[in-house]
Amino acid sequence: MFETLSKAPGDKIPALMGEYAADPRSTKIDLGVGVYKDEKGVTPVMSAVRKAEQRILENEKTKTYLGIAGNKGFSAAVLDLALADSVDRSRVRIARAPGGTGSLWVLMQLINRAGPGATVWLSDPTWPNHNPIAENSGLKVEKYPYFDAETRGVKFAEMLATLDRLGRDDVVLLHGCCHNPTGANLTPDQWDKVAASLARTGALPFIDLAYLGFGDGLLEDAYGTRKVIASVPEALVAFSGSKNFGLYRERIGAAILIAKDAGPSRRDQFPAPQHHPWRLFATARSWCRDHPRHP
Ligand SMILES: Cc1ncc(COP(=O)(O)O)c(C=O)c1O
Repeated sequence: MFETLSKAPGDKIPALMGEYAADPRSTKIDLGVGVYKDEKGVTPVMSAVRKAEQRILENEKTKTYLGIAGNKGFSAAVLDLALADSVDRSRVRIARAPGGTGSLWVLMQLINRAGPGATVWLSDPTWPNHNPIAENSGLKVEKYPYFDAETRGVKFAEMLATLDRLGRDDVVLLHGCCHNPTGANLTPDQWDKVAASLARTGALPFIDLAYLGFGDGLLEDAYGTRKVIASVPEALVAFSGSKNFGLYRERIGAAILIAKDAGPSRRDQFPAPQHHPWRLFATARSWCRDHPRHP
């Protein structure tokens, strides 16, 4: 079966890292992979992370499964950090995912399930992985004007004119802060206008929040995300903890969905007819309790 597969196109970033390593010049600067480095070129482990790891090592009591959505304490902390009180939490669902990339993948799959073949609008240019993740999820991809190479700023009038023409079958992927690769960001006033446009057209905002706290500060960098979410009925956020927690290799991320209302209660979502898996599970559990020597 595997002979049907063709080789995936090479990733340019590892190729650039290889060229950097091979370059003998002492004045070289690594502009490949976007990780924080100190003046010695080391990507350090944050002292807060060290302390947290020690605490886990000393206090962890079990390695049993967490629920499918991951650690609830982590999820609540991510929501506090990214969304604060911009939306009623009853409208929010969050699931742990492998990094920002995994969160983008989960959410693109979800978009295609909710609105098969929807169009995702990406900034021109954008992080090179947005396009393949969207296309491999079955979505159509379009570009909205963004970077003005002459002014090195955002072509805001053109961007807004494009967003104003979109509708309910469109998804707009926005970089929450620290636009990658251009570094050109929206001002708070421009975010207000983008939020108003999305609220008017009904296009779905999808915010990639990979650098929260790396631009102007935690609060300042969250402005656009919180403003958009407070203005629209539905939104998605792909959160990455790789950069701001310095946890690149742990693949820390979360897929966040904001719905127009709280949705059905859990009881409504999981009615327990006789054959329902939850009922089977409960039956099995009570059987094991009554038969303690069962292997
Ligand atoms: C814009 C953007 N989104 C998402 C990511 C993915 O982050 P992660 O490393 O957590 O998968 C990156 C990483 O470089 C990024 O630049």
